[in-house]
Amino acid sequence: QTGYVTLDRGYKNTGATKSAITFLDGEEGILRYRGYSIEELASKASFLEVAYLLIYGELPTKEQYAQFEGAIRHHTLVNEDMRKIFDGFPVKAHPMCVLASLVSAMSGFYPESYEGNGDENLDIVRLIAKLPTIATWSYKRSMGHPLNYPKNKLGYIENFLNMMFALPVEDYTVDPVVAEALNILLILHADHEQNCSTSTVRLVGSSQANLYASISAGISALWGPLHGGANQEVIEMLEEIKAGGGDVAKYIDMAKNAKTTGFRLFGFGHRVYKNFDPRAKIIKKAADDVLSKLGVNDPVLEIAKGLEEAALNDEYFVSRKLYPNVDFYSGIIYRALGIPTNMFTVMFAIGRLPGWIAQWKEMRETKEPIGRPRQIYTGSTLREFVPMENR
Ligand code: SDX
Repeated sequence: QTGYVTLDRGYKNTGATKSAITFLDGEEGILRYRGYSIEELASKASFLEVAYLLIYGELPTKEQYAQFEGAIRHHTLVNEDMRKIFDGFPVKAHPMCVLASLVSAMSGFYPESYEGNGDENLDIVRLIAKLPTIATWSYKRSMGHPLNYPKNKLGYIENFLNMMFALPVEDYTVDPVVAEALNILLILHADHEQNCSTSTVRLVGSSQANLYASISAGISALWGPLHGGANQEVIEMLEEIKAGGGDVAKYIDMAKNAKTTGFRLFGFGHRVYKNFDPRAKIIKKAADDVLSKLGVNDPVLEIAKGLEEAALNDEYFVSRKLYPNVDFYSGIIYRALGIPTNMFTVMFAIGRLPGWIAQWKEMRETKEPIGRPRQIYTGSTLREFVPMENR
């Protein structure tokens, strides 16, 4: 090996870049986007306002917001030829695989994005505008319902809900409680500094790959059950506990014997937060609010609280500083809003999209070099080729 390499598996102690976008304090449980606390943004801003803040660095003025929101509102339609790609998927294809594929396909519909004469702000608008449209296709197809088109008269979240739940046979009106809950969830997922999927977007973008290809890679990374895919795993775990009679102690024990059981409590633990994930705090409260406002009584919420209670009083979790993370309660709200489990990680992707875009843009503007880490080689020393007849 030439030179000196320090091994840092999982980049646990590696700062990959400088960034001015999101600030995390894992000890204090602090999360800020461009200096604004998520507590303030989640209660006072709209998701598109936060998207603008993350991407362009400042909260938009009325005029800037009207231009940004208006552009998005007028780019929600997806090229009809994308339907031909979509129709090629088996109905059982996971919505995340469809989303990653169709976002990558978008670079084929907008070749100027890699031919060097593109308009980056238009690519940004197209992605934010069209992701919800594409996301709802999988759900409608899985229900055997006709796909819905976006409507320019609807706002961002209302449009998504309408495309998800409207049916030709009856009108759909958006419940403001549902829209407000989604606004909070999307804001809380919008960015999280150099997490796995964001680092993926930066690494792919560092080779000068176009924005669509980079975001598609981020969607694939987010799908993993240890990352964004955890919100689907949490609900499946809670459902299993409920089906087994609600005995959380058994799952606590299984997690404590992870070496033999290989089981993890999904929705618990975090690489950075060694205190409560501030997003989990807000989502837990929102879950109580939303379910009571919607008159939904979901026994899984009580099981989740029981599991949290048991874990926070158990040495194994406390000593490893394992607290509920953003994925622990989010699925309970999505479910109450009528969103199916296999769409939870898609919701995470819609929320995280502005953060991925902001980080990709910053990486390009600061002219980060192409990412190319080294390794510690542990393979064979030099050996000679042996012809097959002698092997
Ligand atoms: C997200 O990075 C981000 O910011 C991600 C995210 C974002 O917004 O982008 O916040 C979103 O991905 C949240 C995390 C969602 N994932 C899960 O809920 C899956 C369950 N959690 C774990 O797999 C784990 O906690 C991670 C992946 C989140 C963090 O893993 P680390 O930092 O590599 O920690 P580790 O695997 O080294 O665990 C340390 C110890 C180990 O025990 P020992 O070997 O020391 O005995 O804690 C144990 C682990 O076995 N442990 C768990 C556990 N998580 C860690 N034990 C039981 N249940 C768990 N959930």
